[in-house]
Amino acid sequence: MQGLNFSFPTEIVEEGKVSVVVPKLSAYVKEAWEYAPSKAPVFYNPAMELNRDLAVLALQAYQKRLRREISVCEPLTGCGIRGVRFSVEVDGVRKVFVNDINPEAAKLARFNVERNGLAERVSVANEDANLFLSRYAAPRKRFDYIDVDPFGSPVPYLDAAVRALRDGGLLALTATDMAPLCGVHSKACVRKYGGKPLRTGYCHELAVRLLVGCLTTVAARHEIGIKVVFSHSTDHYIRAYAVAHYGARLADKSLRMMGYILHCFSCFHREKSEGMVSPLKIECPECGSKLNIAGPLWLGKILDEDFCSSMKREADGRRLKREKRILRLLSLVQEEAEASVTYYVIDKICDKLNLPVPPLIEVMDNIKKAGFQATPTHFNSRGVRTNAPANVVKEVITKLST
Ligand SMILES: C[S@@+](CC[C@H](N)C(=O)[O-])C[C@H]1O[C@@H](n2cnc3c(N)ncnc32)[C@H](O)[C@@H]1O
Ligand SMILES: [Zn+2]
Repeated sequence: MQGLNFSFPTEIVEEGKVSVVVPKLSAYVKEAWEYAPSKAPVFYNPAMELNRDLAVLALQAYQKRLRREISVCEPLTGCGIRGVRFSVEVDGVRKVFVNDINPEAAKLARFNVERNGLAERVSVANEDANLFLSRYAAPRKRFDYIDVDPFGSPVPYLDAAVRALRDGGLLALTATDMAPLCGVHSKACVRKYGGKPLRTGYCHELAVRLLVGCLTTVAARHEIGIKVVFSHSTDHYIRAYAVAHYGARLADKSLRMMGYILHCFSCFHREKSEGMVSPLKIECPECGSKLNIAGPLWLGKILDEDFCSSMKREADGRRLKREKRILRLLSLVQEEAEASVTYYVIDKICDKLNLPVPPLIEVMDNIKKAGFQATPTHFNSRGVRTNAPANVVKEVITKLST
């Protein structure tokens, strides 16, 4: 594009209410299998628009809760699109601080800030995210909202982010390292998140719980307790939004929500084990097989219904491209707010039992008829969240499939 002093091809994109200059991704794809965002000199991923849309809604819902002006930080900003959107699309945002270690990214982010007339309201820095966050870790300098949206895991930034967050501040975390979190690289998950994953049908929920569990223990070291207001698993990533509250007792209270999930791969039985002490039970109470352990992880709520309702209200009138998908996601997430931990993926059960897959709605109806709760889950379109034991779920499926 002419007039822009960048050493790489660029193009203009519109997202939400802003228009920004980004690397021209098509210039970096030579083979069909190549992943253009990671090839470009500055990171930009159009597929994360939904992630950014939801962040805008969450931030506005949070600002309305606080009913005052807020300061916002995006320590890994890429081309700056997210920070620019926060400044333009969220009422009550006094100042946004964006940063990226890549000088080309900081330059492009600065360009996008000026292009949108935000030079006074959005400041751009170019240093390591932890260094940047640490500069704001002192009282009265801290942020109301920090959005950590890295490549892979947010864990390397958790400590500095927690320290730079005000009492009552909101922290948003993206994790795209699904192979460790879903148990494909189990050791990497233990190393990074301090908890063991499991390759179960509900591994995406475990991933959110491992991420929140890691945040809980990091925050507890600073005598900070956390409360999750929203989380979701979408495409290739998970995301969690948690409010931090200062106080040793609140940190202890959060730690009491930690525990383990025990899972039987033979009969689909699963159960919670509360507390940080590793459970001794190793035999499945249903079939006697060896139980597998996931955790320690967060066993508490992974969203707040009121917060999700506010996010839904905020979606109204914004004309987001993916409004329908967003509203469907928020409704599903809300429905499962009070439901049991973990869900059953009926296709996996049918696979194991060698049965044809019945319609999900019929499975849920029959589970309810048997006297249990049953709701769909946003984590998996073939999943049912229920308090029914595995043998009831299997009986229902067998009855419907034969
Ligand atoms: C996934 S991209 C950010 C995308 C952006 N949040 C968005 O919504 O478009 C991650 C960014 O983190 C930057 N980065 C990687 N390591 C960093 C570090 N240690 N400190 C600051 N930025 C870093 C990369 O240059 C990259 O631009
Ligand atoms: Zn079993």
